[in-house]
Amino acid sequence: MPTADLWSAARLPIRPAFGLCLPWSLPMTLIAVDGEKCGRCGLCAAACPAGLIELSEASPVPLSVEKAEEGCFECGHCVAACPREALSHRNATPAQCLPIREELRVGVEQVGQLMRSRRSIRNYEDRAVPRETIGELLDVARFAPSGCNSQPVHWLVVYETAQVRRISAMVVDGIRNMLKQDPGLSVRDVLERLVNAWDNGADIVSRGAPHLVIAHGPQDNPFASSACIIALTYFELAASASGLGACWMGLVDMTANTWPPLRQFLGLPKGHIVLGAMALGHPRFKYARIPPRRELRVAWR
Ligand SMILES: Cc1cc2nc3c(=O)[nH]c(=O)nc-3n(C[C@H](O)[C@H](O)[C@H](O)COP(=O)(O)O)c2cc1C
Ligand code: SF4
Ligand code: SF4
Repeated sequence: MPTADLWSAARLPIRPAFGLCLPWSLPMTLIAVDGEKCGRCGLCAAACPAGLIELSEASPVPLSVEKAEEGCFECGHCVAACPREALSHRNATPAQCLPIREELRVGVEQVGQLMRSRRSIRNYEDRAVPRETIGELLDVARFAPSGCNSQPVHWLVVYETAQVRRISAMVVDGIRNMLKQDPGLSVRDVLERLVNAWDNGADIVSRGAPHLVIAHGPQDNPFASSACIIALTYFELAASASGLGACWMGLVDMTANTWPPLRQFLGLPKGHIVLGAMALGHPRFKYARIPPRRELRVAWR
């Protein structure tokens, strides 16, 4: 059987319906289905969140609907759902989608322990994490979800410990400035205590961690903030599973976008803001237990 929807040789740029979702130029055809392989199960059509694929009686294979190119947000579900490797999307062939390895599946007990036992690590060994390891953790975080699949997350890895310390000092300068500028600051007591601790030699910003990982994205992308937070959450869980320790650096976020010397030091692209930061290193000790949390507050209707 012939391929139903042949790839267009020309990649014609079209005006995307959702500029935010589709920042790149697009070819005119969206999917190609190998009629020899397709079993007409309809999973690709069911999986498409935008309803862009139809399986009608009139066609031997699923087809994309009219103007599908304009509504597609490149989520890859159509390729990933197909059990027969029959469907290719203009941006992903089955071979480009990682197989899900059954032998690596984990149960809720393992995932539950990983999520419950991750801790904010504030005591680090005085040794570096290999760059490749950090790269592997970031690669896991790359697969985090984002609104409209806009994938707006960018990373800055401050690998050199001397630079992490410099950033900590700048954060404290930024806090001092905040305290000076705003006498009515609601968290004044907490910030004053932090500054005093710093003046007494305690690294209350990066907690002696050797590395700092910063997630940033375009200020005008409404999904960038949630995407960065989710990606950092993935990163932290992957770090914990690798025996590493991480800690959210709220003080870095708080000052990075408002204290010009720090902003300049970070050198982010124009229009980008810091949307989350995390310390990373080898934990000095392992936790033996999981601390309790508040009772679950949930309403069922
Ligand atoms: C903040 C946020 C909001 C989202 N809102 C919706 C939504 O309203 N409806 C929906 O179908 N999917 C929603 N999604 C899911 C994304 O479209 C999805 O994560 C993305 O297409 C990538 O697909 P994946 O999660 O299967 O990897 C949302 C995701 C995030 C992170
Ligand atoms: S990539 Fe996602 S939105 Fe685009 S056609 Fe496939 S399933 Fe639909
Ligand atoms: S999921 Fe694959 S096999 Fe099923 S209808 Fe779509 S292309 Fe055919």
